[in-house]
Amino acid sequence: MPNLNTAAPGVDGYFPLNEPEIGTAYRNTDVFPSNETLPVLFQPLTIKNVTFKNRIFVSAMCQYSSDNGHATDWHLVHLGGFATRGSGAITVEATAVVPEGRLSAQDAGLWEDSQIAPLKRIVNFVHSQGTKIGIQLAHGGRKASTLPPWVYANAAGTYKADTYVIQEDEGGFADKIYGPSEISFADNYPHPKAMTEVEMQRVEDAFIAAIERCKAIGFDFIELHAAHGYLFHNFLSPLSNARADGYGGSLANRLRFPLRVIERAREAWAEKPLFVRISATDWAEGPEMDDSGNWRQWGIEQSKVFVGEMEKLGVDLVDASSGGNWVKQRISLGHGYQVQFGEALKKAYPNLAIGTVGLLVDPVQIESYLKDGKADIVFLARALMRDPHWPMTAAQALGVAVKPANQYERAWPAMLAS
Ligand SMILES: Cc1cc2nc3c(=O)[nH]c(=O)nc-3n(C[C@H](O)[C@H](O)[C@H](O)COP(=O)(O)O)c2cc1C
Repeated sequence: MPNLNTAAPGVDGYFPLNEPEIGTAYRNTDVFPSNETLPVLFQPLTIKNVTFKNRIFVSAMCQYSSDNGHATDWHLVHLGGFATRGSGAITVEATAVVPEGRLSAQDAGLWEDSQIAPLKRIVNFVHSQGTKIGIQLAHGGRKASTLPPWVYANAAGTYKADTYVIQEDEGGFADKIYGPSEISFADNYPHPKAMTEVEMQRVEDAFIAAIERCKAIGFDFIELHAAHGYLFHNFLSPLSNARADGYGGSLANRLRFPLRVIERAREAWAEKPLFVRISATDWAEGPEMDDSGNWRQWGIEQSKVFVGEMEKLGVDLVDASSGGNWVKQRISLGHGYQVQFGEALKKAYPNLAIGTVGLLVDPVQIESYLKDGKADIVFLARALMRDPHWPMTAAQALGVAVKPANQYERAWPAMLAS
């Protein structure tokens, strides 16, 4: 008997096909005249051979819920929920390439083959909903082996641990923590050892091995984590890197290790989009460069040099975040407070795709950033956690009719009538 409820092709299992894909603006302007001119947020974007149906990307979000680095059904439901509600792409949380690169003992990992299958199940489901999915590969550097936020400070706020460090007998790996130099993030964080060349090579090889696993899983893109005070950012910033060898001191030296890994990652992941998330500033007090011409902290000027080198290596998109490497950082928070960094990078490299992130909530304001060419895509984290249907409500706010999931269509009559 023919199944009139057509199956999504190319995936394992039966899932009704959504046509067009969920979160796609309808093209039939006779029926949907308001879609004649689409806001940039709902225009597709093609990078390499991958077409993203809209510009709404789920930002990487640690869930502290993995089982020895393996994704669980929590991740299937959490990430699957974004796929059924119209986001253009989903970024799997920071995923460690070696066990001691995890922030907490329950962080995601991709250092062994048994971690492939649960991620493959998630990717299959997300693809069945017509949504793209990538993964953020990471190493926590000097901030690894720490407590999940709700363990450090419980939700009721009645308890705060004395230290962020997870001890060995609590499942931690604080004795194995390393960074460029023996400089802790804070007194209540692990005390890192300075990495040897052998350890750097091991981490570099682990990134490449994880990329091979990403191919087996079928991810659409990879984002390398070079932000938020984790290993690559530790090397980049003069606040965390005091090395006297070829990997510390001058800007060129501080860029050397991250660029070395990025170059090999690009070679290994040649066919599909490669993104890098950076912190564009440390938000430390004082200038980026002092009067004597010494770099005092990481900032936008060095970020521009770093991004220029990444563009030469063939990185497809830079995701411009900030902070996380200086415990006394002073951030001026506000809607789109990091858009300025994406904008500066876009000005310097107009042909490079830029993602902006950080306190982005209002669709009209977000659309203005995209329209003004300050970024090409937006990454959203907390707004999507509060409201996974954000793409649908954003479409309504911008006056566009987009496809809801077949199963949810009856919840969006206003969308269908617009
Ligand atoms: C629960 C949670 C987990 C996060 N985990 C990650 C992560 O794994 N990798 C990362 O680069 N940023 C992470 N972030 C930062 C977000 O990706 C995002 O950059 C930040 O929250 C600002 O965006 P927002 O204002 O839309 O939340 C996390 C944020 C939250 C709230």
